Amino acid sequence: MDLSVNLAPGRPGGLALSNPVLIASGTFGYDGYGRGIAPDAALGLLGAVLPKTFTRYPRDGNPEPRWFPASFREGLAAGETTLLNSIGLTNPGIEAAMTHLAPQWAAMDANIVMSMAGDSPEQWEEMAAFTRGVDGFAAIELNLSCPNVADGAMFSHYPRLAEAAVAGVRRQTGLPLWAKLSPNVPDITEIAHAAVDAGADALTICNTMPALHIDVDTGRPTLGAGYGGLSGPALRPVAMALVHRTAQAVNVPIIGVGGVMTGRHAVEYLLAGATAVQVGSANLANLNAPFRILGELVDLLTQWEIGSVSEIIGKAELA
Ligand SMILES: Cc1cc2nc3c(=O)[nH]c(=O)nc-3n(C[C@H](O)[C@H](O)[C@H](O)COP(=O)(O)O)c2cc1C
Repeated sequence: MDLSVNLAPGRPGGLALSNPVLIASGTFGYDGYGRGIAPDAALGLLGAVLPKTFTRYPRDGNPEPRWFPASFREGLAAGETTLLNSIGLTNPGIEAAMTHLAPQWAAMDANIVMSMAGDSPEQWEEMAAFTRGVDGFAAIELNLSCPNVADGAMFSHYPRLAEAAVAGVRRQTGLPLWAKLSPNVPDITEIAHAAVDAGADALTICNTMPALHIDVDTGRPTLGAGYGGLSGPALRPVAMALVHRTAQAVNVPIIGVGGVMTGRHAVEYLLAGATAVQVGSANLANLNAPFRILGELVDLLTQWEIGSVSEIIGKAELA
């Protein structure tokens, strides 16, 4: 069976991945950088792995609590479908990432896609300059859409800002670029076009949705930062519609993210027009989830006698 996908077909050399199941940024291990992943985990079996987003300078992140429910694993086991987090981009900064983490990635048997976020068009470009000449990752995902930092999602709320961020990074690197978009916009196709016109090779749809949970016993928000980002099963139908709509509008691959918990969910996204999926919250319930999901996807395609992933991409029949 041919599971391979190309997530930068417009770039010289492309970006061929062995299969369409990826680990979403922020959910690679319990800290976003692989904590809890067994040293012998066969990460090379997955299409790619995205470590947590880096910013220009180190960030401590948001006040605790940062999770609702406090354990995604226990919450999902109890039937909770509403998952919120407000980590706030805790990270060591791009310079430490390039100096200390990239060499570790280079030694790993995995395709790594580095995720970063700037806070001005100039800073996006400055950050991209730090990646020049550094090995260890095959592509860059531009997190234009984190809802958990002040103004974090702004770059995916305005076409001109999305365009400026992508264009700045494009000037500094020939690597494949994926632009990660927000679900929280009136017309995602405007942002998608702006990112693609500026040089994005693929679009990742979507980040978490701004959300609030209030503890009625205290009358206060459950999360320390107040608002958080909604992920998991409740986000899936929202992301599905955005993926489908964007796939009709642009001519680059789309990576569907939001509530992929099973192989059937991965198939849903592929049918809607995604070329690949990223698994996020499901990792935080079980770090083995992406491997299980890939196995389930293969089983389904085998059962349906489908010889290659590309046969089902975009094949949902919507009137
Ligand atoms: C705990 C947590 C941390 C996250 N951190 C990041 C991040 O650093 N960068 C990013 O682009 N997305 C981040 N995300 C968003 C995920 O990559 C993904 O877009 C979102 O959770 C939807 O997928 P899911 O429903 O499978 O979780 C985070 C999500 C969670 C749950």
